[in-house]
Formats: sequence, C-alpha cells, structure tokens
Amino acid sequence: MTYENILISSENQIATVTINRPTKLNALNVATIQELHHVFNTLELNPEIRVIILTGTGEKAFVAGADIAEFAHFSVEEGAHLAASGQELLFDFVEKLKTPVIAAVNGFALGGGLELAMACHFRIASDNAKMGLPEVSLGVIPGYGGTQRLPQLVGKGRAMEMIMTAGMISAEDAYRVGLVNHVVPQAELLEFCNGIAAKILKNSPVAIGQAIKAVNANFKEGVNGFETEIKAFGKCFGTADFKEGTSAFLEKRKADFKGN
Ligand code: COA
Repeated sequence: MTYENILISSENQIATVTINRPTKLNALNVATIQELHHVFNTLELNPEIRVIILTGTGEKAFVAGADIAEFAHFSVEEGAHLAASGQELLFDFVEKLKTPVIAAVNGFALGGGLELAMACHFRIASDNAKMGLPEVSLGVIPGYGGTQRLPQLVGKGRAMEMIMTAGMISAEDAYRVGLVNHVVPQAELLEFCNGIAAKILKNSPVAIGQAIKAVNANFKEGVNGFETEIKAFGKCFGTADFKEGTSAFLEKRKADFKGN
C-alpha cells in the first residue's frame, strides 16, 4: 500500500511513523486513520520492528484534531459510526499492540490528536507542545476515547476541567499532571525518543507484549487485571526469551532476545 498521509522510516529495529498533512496541521481524516491502521498492523507483524515512534510532520503540530471539515455535516448515525470505526481501527488498535508505541508530541495535540497520543503506550513532548480536548467548543465531545483515557492519565477532576473548558495546557503542565513522561527541546525530541526506544530494545519483546496486555487489563471493565497478569506471567515461562534472559543473567552475559 502506498500512503498519501503518512511517512515511514526505520532504523535499528525502530520505526518512525510521521503523520504528514502539514497544510491541515496533520488533522486526522478517515483516509489517514485507515492508513495508520494499515501501517501499525504491518509493523506489528514485522519481527524486525521492536519499537514504533509516532509523530507529526513540521514544527507546529503533532495532530490538530479530527478533520473538522470532514464531519461538520454528519448525521447522528454518521457521527456514531465515525467514533466507533476510528476507535476500532486506530485508537484501541494502537493501545493493544504488542509493539511499544511512543508518541513524540511535537506541537499541538488537540482533540483526536491528544486522543491518539493517549492511545500510545506513553508520551514525550517537545517544549512548544500544547494539549487539549477542545471538542465541546465545537458542540461535540471527544469521540476517540478521550473521555476515558484522559481521566485514567490525569485523574477525573483535571480531565473534567480540561474537557469542560476546552482549554489547552502547556507541555510543562502536561508533565506536571502525568500526561507526558518527559519534556525536551523540540530539536531533540526524536533523538530523545530514540534513546528511550534503545533502552526498550535491550529487553524481551515477548515479555514487553505480555506486560502491555497486563497493564491495559487494569483499565478494562469486567476484566480482572490480576488474573490477566498471572496468565501473562505464566506464558512467559514457555518462551525462548525467558530461557535466554534467565540464562544470560546466571552466566553473567548480555541477553540476546529473539522475540519468541
Ligand atoms: N480539522 C481540519 N482542519 C484543520 C484542523 C482540524 N482539526 N486544525 C487545523 N486545520 C487547518 C485549518 O483549517 C487551516 O486550513 P486552511 O489553511 O485551509 O484554512 C490549517 O489547518 C492551519 O490552521 P490555522 O487554524 O490557520 O492555524 P493557527 O496557527 O491559526 O491555529 C490551531 C492553530 C491548532 C489553534 C487551530 O488550527 C485550531 O484550533 N484547530 C482546531 C483544533 C480543534 O478544535 N481540534 C479538535 C477537533 S475535534
């Protein structure tokens, strides 16, 4: 598949996916969501790729939201379908990937843009980034999981205030409330993310995939996360990575994980 709205590069088992609609501040239209679904699925199936970094093109925006022009005249049914299909194809899909996905938030992350960053496994922001869920200023609410993931990350009260005021917060404030893990100068953002990715690469990909599943279980209604953890823990014992990791420790050498 050739992509019109995203760019991909990879080096040293790290793939960088860049949303590339600069004239629309990388706003997420349906075509971009479909392309992102395809690229994430392809990267997940590629054993050579062990970490994915997601960012936006240019210095101004990660993603300035869902594409307002595309949904402005939607009906009730079309609106509900937009949210449901987007959540399934992209937001829930990214969250459940076994391959770690780091959001490199390089500027505005608004509405669907912040929702996408929140669906990633964690976030690093550049110092000029601004984040918010401005949907109520348009007469709608966050529909790509924002009402669920923002309270998970920053607590109910802060999420309520951000959603009700439709305001933006700075990268520093996002760091203070736990929405992003680090804030770095914009010019250093990708290098910093690659540095974290390099630390992840040293560890077992199978164990990381099981850890993502177990952590996600904490936030799923009707799922006992402790049970999920027990099963995932047990599964690790049947992997070559576990044999390699424990043997390497006992033999005082570096582990060479194959990801199986
Ligand atoms: N959907 C569609 N187009 C968008 C967009 C979005 N979410 N965000 C920005 N764009 C487009 C603008 O319409 C403009 O296109 P044009 O040049 O064809 O008119 C272009 O991107 C540049 O944006 P502009 O508003 O001129 O930049 P700015 O620097 O003045 O303002 C923002 C930047 C991010 C503050 C402003 O673009 C904005 O408020 N965007 C919408 C944010 C939002 O409400 N997102 C949630 C959607 S649910």
